[in-house]
Amino acid sequence: MKNTVVVGAQFGDEGKAKITDILAKEADFITRFQGGSNAGHTVVADGKKYAFHLIPSGILYENKICMLGAGCVIKPDDLEKEINDIVSQGVSIERFKNCFKISPLAHITMKYHTDIDGYSENNLKENKIGTTKKGIGPTYTDKYNRCGIRVEDLFHPEILSKKLDIILPKKNRELEFVYNLKPYSKEDILKECELYRKILAPYVDFKWEDNLSDILKNKTILFEGAQGVMLDIDYGTYPYVTSSSPTAGGAAIGASMGVSAIQRAVGVFKAYMTRVGEGAFITESLDDDGEKLRTIGGEFGVTTGRPRRCGWFDAISAKYSVLVGGLTEIALTKLDVLDSFKEIKIAVAYKNKKTGEIIKYYPTNVYTHKDFEPVYETCQGWLSDITKCRTYDELPQNAKLYLKKLEEILGTKITIISVGPDREQTIFIQ
Ligand code: GDP
Ligand code: IMO
Ligand code: MG
Repeated sequence: MKNTVVVGAQFGDEGKAKITDILAKEADFITRFQGGSNAGHTVVADGKKYAFHLIPSGILYENKICMLGAGCVIKPDDLEKEINDIVSQGVSIERFKNCFKISPLAHITMKYHTDIDGYSENNLKENKIGTTKKGIGPTYTDKYNRCGIRVEDLFHPEILSKKLDIILPKKNRELEFVYNLKPYSKEDILKECELYRKILAPYVDFKWEDNLSDILKNKTILFEGAQGVMLDIDYGTYPYVTSSSPTAGGAAIGASMGVSAIQRAVGVFKAYMTRVGEGAFITESLDDDGEKLRTIGGEFGVTTGRPRRCGWFDAISAKYSVLVGGLTEIALTKLDVLDSFKEIKIAVAYKNKKTGEIIKYYPTNVYTHKDFEPVYETCQGWLSDITKCRTYDELPQNAKLYLKKLEEILGTKITIISVGPDREQTIFIQ
């Protein structure tokens, strides 16, 4: 397999983890490159269901190195809980000790980051982003404001102490006077950091530079994306986005590699669309179709349990995702969820409700999205169970027509089709 990045191509939850898990079989080194425990990644392997948030799902295989790259943000106590959960499902702690690595350059999500995220969400009322309240935005804010705490800082008490003398007075003023929240003493923070150091110590890869050239020369690399292009900090529905770059471009930076390390970018799309949190979603269906998609698709968040908003496939935003996400091929998931729909819609343009103008490009200013409604093309459904199909030829004719239509519009090949949550329920197209 070529070095491959798996990118969510819609608003997250496209089924990336299932695709990553399948591709991981062919990889030696699997790395997350952005995001934190805001992600909720489900893998169903041999009938067992695993929920990942930070840990690359490649940990389900023996002898594959799984890394959290420099571009990730880590809440060590959440990570510890996740490791314990996965261990309780039968993955040995030895495998974690041998195969799970953390970049010393990744940033730490501190308690004050989750305090601020929670406060903002609870107080912004109708202007809230609908975040996962995992402290993601505030952690990346400090990273880019050059006042974050990195994993490596936890292992240098003197440097950490000096850093805190600079960071903490500022952070406490912010907590007290901007957010009306409780300040932290230096002692509190040192205690928190000591706990985090102990949790992370077995996994931090201080020799990552030494190992990297061997990985680049001799290993097959899989970059595991979280979130999705439409949640990208630059290209998503800003400000209703996450705070990192989940695109193929983001992968190289977040995994400490050059762009030449990536040879293939698989964009994962659901056969319809979902979104959790606030922000525009032009094809959102508030009628029976949306409810039916949510029920059949089991569309409830892995991380927060929130019901996902549902709607039809938006080919305009999908084309934009292919472009800015740097996608070279498509994995289409949850095609089976459409099995019982008589008609299936694809948005092929947007109509300006005020002027009647039809546009076929993605308007990047999210505040204008309320002016647009989707223009749909309707495909006939196949009204049969496809969950047992294992080859393209076995798919019903109308399902093939739906796939052809998507390929035509997106100008990109669909190479993987998922017809159920299990590893086996997958069709590969050469
Ligand atoms: P991710 O965040 O992109 O990895 O996706 P999530 O795990 O949050 O959500 C995808 C959900 O759909 C999970 O419950 C998967 O087990 C499930 N899933 C993945 N592929 C398929 C599929 O082809 N059909 C069905 N019915 N479910 C799927
Ligand atoms: P996976 O990897 C779906 C959404 C949140 C919110 C916005 C910002 O499972 O696809 P954040 O907590 O990141 O500051 O929230 O992004 N969001 C996701 N939506 N899947 C995810 O991850 C998400 N991670 C964040 O709901 O709208
Ligand atoms: Mg998810």
